Amino acid sequence: MNQNHNPAATAQAPVKPLSPWTYTNAELFELEYDAFFLRAWQWVGHVSDVPEPGDFVAREIGRDSVFVIRGKDRELRAFQNVCRHRASRIVSGFGQCRGVIRCPYHGWTYRLDGSLLAIPQQEHFPQADLASLGLHEIELDVFHGLLFVRIEGDGPAVAEMFGESSDYFAKYGVDEYQRCFDDVNEVWPVNWKVAWDNYLENYHIPVGHPALQRLLVENDEYDEYASGVSYGTFEIRDKPSNVDAEREYQELFHQGCTRLPPELHGKWVQFGITGNLGIDLYPELLDIFQLVPLSADSTMVRSAWYGHPDPSDHERRLRELNLAINQPVNDEDRQLCTRVQLGLRTHNYRPGPLSRLEVSIARFHETVRRRIPVTSLDRAPAHGKVASENARLATSAAGS
Ligand code: FES
Ligand SMILES: [Fe+2]
Repeated sequence: MNQNHNPAATAQAPVKPLSPWTYTNAELFELEYDAFFLRAWQWVGHVSDVPEPGDFVAREIGRDSVFVIRGKDRELRAFQNVCRHRASRIVSGFGQCRGVIRCPYHGWTYRLDGSLLAIPQQEHFPQADLASLGLHEIELDVFHGLLFVRIEGDGPAVAEMFGESSDYFAKYGVDEYQRCFDDVNEVWPVNWKVAWDNYLENYHIPVGHPALQRLLVENDEYDEYASGVSYGTFEIRDKPSNVDAEREYQELFHQGCTRLPPELHGKWVQFGITGNLGIDLYPELLDIFQLVPLSADSTMVRSAWYGHPDPSDHERRLRELNLAINQPVNDEDRQLCTRVQLGLRTHNYRPGPLSRLEVSIARFHETVRRRIPVTSLDRAPAHGKVASENARLATSAAGS
């Protein structure tokens, strides 16, 4: 499942969608990276990924890479994944540093708290001041067991962004969860905003996702916060699907997940966090849909799954069926988004109107325009001028 719930439509002035050039422009991509990724909380994993001192999880976030590691004092810390000597990436994926973090290039070693411990052949570095050459620590926030890092900037903590919807994470017991399937990383040949636009609307479900159409009914529980976090809920239809896996899922789902309070039994809860992170809370597991921007027309889509550490047989089967249903939906979205990215390059294409069912896209596009004013232009500035034109528009907006 990876599209956001939309509320019953409310009347409002139509918002013009972003112009096609904003989905293909490499210079703009760099500005977007700064505004939406570098300065925003980025999900990296769960506390259960790093249970013991020395355990780490490293993630690429666009051109940056970060890792979270548990220290000998059992504290979690986050660092930029770059050696202070010659910039080598130090760790990758999930792993365990035995006692020290060791750079694979020349062997500089760092303590688990990031401080520099030793430089091989240190006598050849007469000027080196070890105390000033520790790893760059970055902000870390743990939200119901989920690890978030922020490389630059400030603003609200993750819990503040989720507001009252945080209660869901408490009710499901997400802080107890553990990874229950291996992550899947796929590269989609699309701009990250194409994938996010698609995530934000359900208008495409009846045509684009027949399985979801058979299974789901939207209900009217929905909220969208000024922080950029939104959430909505779905119910599973009573009418049995004519597809075996879906029907089995419906039957088991309706028997309820006894671990959870009754009000959560019949629901899928779906969260969107501005620009790049979706979290679905199903009774049987939590899934992550994360966009990692690679270039103007290339995005890594990361999927991850966490669940209760001691699932019943019933839950286990629901998890298998969940993936059997939702992984094809993900493939459908990749194809739908790829078609859009190709279409956006079309000579003289101008975007059509957004429906009231696509109001979340309109809000997202307004956020993009507010953060990066140059995106309000119908045509791309001249080559090499995107950043300077953006700075000029930002200054004039600040002065008006
Ligand atoms: S780059 Fe890390 S030790 Fe040289
Ligand atoms: Fe979709």
